[in-house]
Amino acid sequence: MHKKEYIRKMFAGISPRYDLLNHLLSMGRDRYWRRFAVSKLPSGYILDVCSGTGDVAIEVSNKNKNQVVASDFCNEMLQLCEKKIKKQNIGNIQCIRNDAENLSFKDGTFDGAIVAFGIRNVADIKKSLSEMNRVVKKGGKVIIIEFSQPENKVFRSIYYLYFQGILPLAGAIISKKEGAYSYLPSSVMAFPKRDEFIKLMKGSGLSEIGFYDLTFGIVTVYAGTRL
Ligand SMILES: C[S@@+](CC[C@H](N)C(=O)[O-])C[C@H]1O[C@@H](n2cnc3c(N)ncnc32)[C@H](O)[C@@H]1O
Repeated sequence: MHKKEYIRKMFAGISPRYDLLNHLLSMGRDRYWRRFAVSKLPSGYILDVCSGTGDVAIEVSNKNKNQVVASDFCNEMLQLCEKKIKKQNIGNIQCIRNDAENLSFKDGTFDGAIVAFGIRNVADIKKSLSEMNRVVKKGGKVIIIEFSQPENKVFRSIYYLYFQGILPLAGAIISKKEGAYSYLPSSVMAFPKRDEFIKLMKGSGLSEIGFYDLTFGIVTVYAGTRL
């Protein structure tokens, strides 16, 4: 099966338990991580790429009353996003099915674009970054938040016991899907290191790149500008 189809099916399969597992397995830190990433966005029209169930789009909509687009290629995730928005009576988020590697928006549409824990899953990272760069206006921001490998060796070895041992087991039991939560640590290990990822951002046309490590470097937020 092509990577894209495999990933789409995997997220469709875990979608009913996705939010619960996020909060549980991150011990509640995921909310803070998303809020921090959103704080790096400008105000204005924002695109949330790989939006999943919409937590980032909701965070953006709380911060800024302008329109937000939540986009994902997995219908099951988008349906949960729509349900959540309706339940919370949020009027400024539009959910649109879209492939991160082939965004359907015109050049320079948004003031900012963000992808949270999604870029690791796309087949062509550089293509997706270029697409985010393309759809933001000149001077607009592209924010990426993704799991990282902690740099402190002692912390890293303790963390890996949890991340590679306990997390896949707990994830499999709660989601009732075997592979998805083993895929998480293996995809993080295969993901480019900070300096390699910054090179990819530069290669996709982004400038003024900065990054912030959160929670001992478990997660990194990258920020770039379209010049
Ligand atoms: C780990 S979830 C992150 C969801 C959300 N951003 C969050 O913070 O919880 C990754 C999401 O990326 C989506 N995704 C993966 N590859 C994609 C692609 N090529 N185009 C659009 N969405 C994609 C999946 O369907 C899934 O909803």
